[in-house]
Amino acid sequence: VSLKQTVPRVEVGEVEGIPFTKQICSTWDQVWKFKARPDDLLIATYTKAGTTWTQEIVDMIQQNGDVEKCRRATTYRRHPFLEWSIQEPPAESYSGLELAEAMPSPRTLKTHLPVQLVPPSFWEQNCKIIYVARNAKDNLVSYYHFHRMSKGMPDPVTWEEFMEKFMTGKVLWGSWYDHVKGWWKAKDKHRILYLFYEDMKENPKQEIQKILKFLEKDVNEEVLNKILHNTSFEIMKENPMTNYTTEFRGIMDHSISPFMRKGVVGDWKNHFTVAQNEKFDEDYKKKMADTSLVFRMEL
Ligand code: A3P
Repeated sequence: VSLKQTVPRVEVGEVEGIPFTKQICSTWDQVWKFKARPDDLLIATYTKAGTTWTQEIVDMIQQNGDVEKCRRATTYRRHPFLEWSIQEPPAESYSGLELAEAMPSPRTLKTHLPVQLVPPSFWEQNCKIIYVARNAKDNLVSYYHFHRMSKGMPDPVTWEEFMEKFMTGKVLWGSWYDHVKGWWKAKDKHRILYLFYEDMKENPKQEIQKILKFLEKDVNEEVLNKILHNTSFEIMKENPMTNYTTEFRGIMDHSISPFMRKGVVGDWKNHFTVAQNEKFDEDYKKKMADTSLVFRMEL
């Protein structure tokens, strides 16, 4: 029996009605009290919306296109994952909080928290935040495959069952619908750059330029092209510092489904049956009736 087969899946608890791993629940008080610094940059997303991609773009910008500097550590360690911690073997131990506290400024941090659970110090310090959203159907498909391959997630059981859980918000980090809508509302009151995965796929150069402007950074054409190249799906899939093969060896099984899986818009069409699509659309309309937020499900 391989190690992976014997590793149990995470246990799930709740904070303010949102499902989280038991580990996150047990450290929640410290997460909530986290002290943001004014020059912190926060990258916030719903899980599987393109976090790692955005993190690499931001780091490439901050390192002025220096590929070697960007390979100084894995994505997971370059940008502390605020609320996340693991203590149980076989994963290497990790505490996003400890990593962040030990990191000199300026820091770039990652979170999947819904907007209402972001530690208040981020708002008090008026930190810049980049939020990335991805259309619900592709986000769901990506999340499903991630559950299959990672013991850090609960068992998805079947595609059908997982879809149901996603629609009712009974997945880790809660409802996709509430997440994207909540952050959309917040962007009018705070320093939030709200981006879409679909736009990044369609015109990465333009979206990178939006990030540059938001970060008040400037790079020449050569560096911009270097950033574009090195943050492409093909390069990031082969980069051991971004493809999640360097860490989590005990809990992620890339042979089931690689972390860098497909990286496209519209893969949901290979997963949804016609009946599932109709049901999903009907429910989607209701849940998204109270927002001006519009997603593209294909390019
Ligand atoms: P798929 O499972 O659809 O392939 P996150 O980083 O938030 O966990 O998101 C992971 C998703 O982003 C995966 O989607 C992954 O393949 C995709 N992704 C990662 N890097 C990418 C890139 N450079 N370009 C496009 N998609 C990327």
